[in-house]
Amino acid sequence: DIERSLRPQRLEDYIGQDRVKRQMAIFIQAAQKRNEPLDHVLLYGPPGLGKTTLANIIAQEMGTNIKTTSGPAIEKPGDLAAILTSLKEGDVLFIDEIHRLQRSVEEVLYPAMEDFVLDIIIGKGPSAKSIRLDLPKFTLVGATTRAGLLTAPLRDRFGVVQRLELYNQVELATIISRSAEILSVNLDEKGAEELSVRSRGTPRIANRLLKRVRDFAEIEGKGVIDLETARTALELFEVDAKGLDEIDRIMLTTIVEKFDGGPVGIDTLAAAIGEERNTIEEVYEPYLIQLGYLARTPRGRVITSGGYRHLGLEPAVLQEQVK
Ligand code: ADE
Repeated sequence: DIERSLRPQRLEDYIGQDRVKRQMAIFIQAAQKRNEPLDHVLLYGPPGLGKTTLANIIAQEMGTNIKTTSGPAIEKPGDLAAILTSLKEGDVLFIDEIHRLQRSVEEVLYPAMEDFVLDIIIGKGPSAKSIRLDLPKFTLVGATTRAGLLTAPLRDRFGVVQRLELYNQVELATIISRSAEILSVNLDEKGAEELSVRSRGTPRIANRLLKRVRDFAEIEGKGVIDLETARTALELFEVDAKGLDEIDRIMLTTIVEKFDGGPVGIDTLAAAIGEERNTIEEVYEPYLIQLGYLARTPRGRVITSGGYRHLGLEPAVLQEQVK
């Protein structure tokens, strides 16, 4: 399975996220030395940065099995009870989009995380009884886009909380070159660099662009992804020089044209462009902020001089001077 093989299996093959890697290596080794399961781990950050990959690596490094599910997939407390009772000692339970768990399901999770027990209520009314079942000691790995989306009691039950960051250009180029090798794609250094600057700091996007540009190279090019081929293909696919898409550009131009460059409140901006506030905050903003095109201020979002220049406009300060 090619899709799977692009994901590194071991921590040493995982590129970037150096702080997370160094810390996790220590926590994993310490747990193994004590012959205990790893403490529960919460991974948060923008989509496509490798949270699922890391969860699988944690299980691999601990030498245990992993069960994967997601917040919306667990509909009732009984669904979670079934999953928990099927775990074995030391297993990793990975819950993606953990912020989308129902409150009633979360309440089953608390004693399971804290004391490895499952409280089951039998019957109704005055004759109802509670039975306590012991669970195997397991490691919960939860993933979400922002830690702030979790309820405080759930967040507080994770012993390890890691924020994943957007990747820098060099890290992305390394990931792309590794993927090209696995996919037997002929990619040169300049080609890798061009793909990396248009990947929005995100390995998932980098790997997707690599596959689409490979298609182009095989059909319209010489089968080699060099600078020229990468540029021509990405232009055709409407990925701009910095990897911005339509919505990124609409966001920036809206701030300029409707709000004089800002500051504009996030809810006002969301309404103006017809996107969810959460999507803006979790998917679009992080990359625009990393590029230095957008800034968050206490009074709202502002476009920076770099943002103006990317749109081919004079920065606001210069416009003021002209007036
Ligand atoms: N593929 C996707 N993410 C990766 C990463 N962080 N390191 C190596 N390969 C990857």
